[in-house]
Amino acid sequence: MSKTGALDLAAGVGGTIEKSQVLSAVNKYEKYHTCYGGKEEERKAEYRDVANKYYDLATSFYEYGWGESFHVARRWKGESLREGMKRHEHFIASQLALKPGLKVLDVGCGIGGPLREIARFSYTCITGLTDNAYHVKRGQELNRIAGVDKTCNFVKADFMQMPFPDNTFDAAYAIESTCHAPDAYECYKEIYRILKPGQHFAAYEWCMTDSFDPNNQEHRKIKADIEIGNGLTDIRLTGQLIEALKRAGFEVIWEKDLGPDSDIPWYAHMDKKRLSLTSFRTTGIGRWITSLTVKALEYVRLAPEGSVRVQEFLLQAGDGLYEGGRREIFTPMYFFLARKPISKSP
Ligand SMILES: C[S@@+](CC[C@H](N)C(=O)[O-])C[C@H]1O[C@@H](n2cnc3c(N)ncnc32)[C@H](O)[C@@H]1O
Repeated sequence: MSKTGALDLAAGVGGTIEKSQVLSAVNKYEKYHTCYGGKEEERKAEYRDVANKYYDLATSFYEYGWGESFHVARRWKGESLREGMKRHEHFIASQLALKPGLKVLDVGCGIGGPLREIARFSYTCITGLTDNAYHVKRGQELNRIAGVDKTCNFVKADFMQMPFPDNTFDAAYAIESTCHAPDAYECYKEIYRILKPGQHFAAYEWCMTDSFDPNNQEHRKIKADIEIGNGLTDIRLTGQLIEALKRAGFEVIWEKDLGPDSDIPWYAHMDKKRLSLTSFRTTGIGRWITSLTVKALEYVRLAPEGSVRVQEFLLQAGDGLYEGGRREIFTPMYFFLARKPISKSP
């Protein structure tokens, strides 16, 4: 079962970090970031530590607020957030034409929410790869409960250097995860290597759009808020990703920012003024109640020292994402479908 109670949230803060070390992990994590004087080069050099500290600290908040899938989704009128999220997952499965018997890789799988949904939707065997040990542990527990532990598994490894032979997989996808890579080209080259020739890679990428102005101070602040609130070293431009895919050897079948298409934009549920009963915890009042709860739980030592600070940078993320989306300078759903040509070797 998902850990969605306030006590689960409190107990989970820190993931694999010793509870007594949570505060010092928060200090170290914050110092990586621009708002605390951190430099992009250092974040990139330490990208595994940046992401792992972030997910150790933040995962129980994600499960509490979002459930088992750690991605956003756009919606159409009458659709709940959950329905939108499932459609987002089914879309990537349909683009990859997944069918029974295929061996699929989920690159940066979180605790496996999309992996379980896609495996059941398409009858495929999926390997989930994540660099975070806590995600592997939670993912394995949830796979057992969902009854997909015989067909799906988890591997703890860095997607910049994967422990798989060349030409292993029939398909690969990445949902809001390769944004953690310090270098898109090196990451895509690695995905290209493990895919069989003729097979496809699809992703939802986090990007700054062409409307982002690096000389605009407000734009830069929004970008920095998104980075600290989501464990990112830097956010690339859409055009840089397509260039990186092509340089890695992929044929780009199609690509598009799916953000602007829907009735209800992906950032709508980060609007603090919105009211919703079905996703109450992501509303302004819901977040305020969570803040009070976390403060109380930290005060009575049921949550480790530093938990309130984690919630603060997650709120910063929500504000940055909302503003980035509203001003159309950022998208978390730059979609592409790419193919490894048959003729080229890895
Ligand atoms: C935002 S979560 C998305 C998880 C999942 N795709 C979902 O939608 O629920 C990003 C995932 O990427 C993983 N990740 C970050 N950096 C990684 C790296 N260098 N190698 C492998 N996984 C990484 C994180 O551990 C996390 O599981």
